[in-house]
Amino acid sequence: MKGIILAGGTATRLFPLTVTTSKQLLPVYDRQMIFYPLNILIKAKIREILIIVAPEHSGQFLNLLGSIFEKFNIHLEFKVQKVPRGLADAFILGKTFIGQEAVTMALGDNIFEDDLSEKIRKFKKGGLVFAKRVPDPERFGVVEFDKKGRALSIEEKPLKPKSSFCLTGLYVYDNQVVKFARGLKPSSRGEIEITDINRQYLEQKMLKVEKIRGAWLDAGTYDSLLEAGRIVREKKIFAKMDPVIDKAILCLNEELKAIAKKRLF
Ligand code: DAU
Repeated sequence: MKGIILAGGTATRLFPLTVTTSKQLLPVYDRQMIFYPLNILIKAKIREILIIVAPEHSGQFLNLLGSIFEKFNIHLEFKVQKVPRGLADAFILGKTFIGQEAVTMALGDNIFEDDLSEKIRKFKKGGLVFAKRVPDPERFGVVEFDKKGRALSIEEKPLKPKSSFCLTGLYVYDNQVVKFARGLKPSSRGEIEITDINRQYLEQKMLKVEKIRGAWLDAGTYDSLLEAGRIVREKKIFAKMDPVIDKAILCLNEELKAIAKKRLF
């Protein structure tokens, strides 16, 4: 299983915070936002991770993450997405990286309270996505269920949502996803949509939709960014991370101290 974190985009809703850095490098309580999706992949024992970033902030991602995971046998690769063409672009940009394997894609601005790593580890084939009941489903991809809890339809940001369950930004797919993504046409908003990938798995009866119970945040607005920090602190999400994350952050601290010492002499 390979991992991808989609951490590009323009994040205009967070202006002017995103003039100086990328949304996914903004702080959520005690660390940068990107550590949360990284934690999901690392906890799921994924050891090869591609981070897709926007050109203007690529250097900052490298500064933070470029060297700190290697000694834990976790290999990070970076790729620039020149234009934010849509979520499904991750599987086109990541084609060579994915190779013949399955892939889990986590959005760089999504934070989950639940530990979903076991579900990722147990994944075999088709697609696996996670749904959460929200008060404002029209902002997201919306999934409709039948009486037995099976997914019936998926729509991206519908004006009249058929349910209050949205699809969260964590997607586990078998290798067919590369083929599906390459066949996509841009939607009316000009993006290649992950919802169209999910729909193809659904049509094949190969999409599993799991409902999650814990808190879930898409930290893309001022309010949700603030709420993310509050929930991370209240539910102690920062303390439940894979130990490798904290060890890597500690390494960064050591590296910076060593550089500062060299500068003194
Ligand atoms: O957060 C969950 C939702 O994410 C889903 O319910 C929707 O189905 C899905 O389309 C997506 O909706 P958003 O409108 O919230 O996506 P957004 O444009 O905010 O992008 C999500 C993240 O991906 C964000 O961190 C920026 C990054 N991104 C986005 C695009 C379109 C990229 O890196 N490249 C892109 O081309």
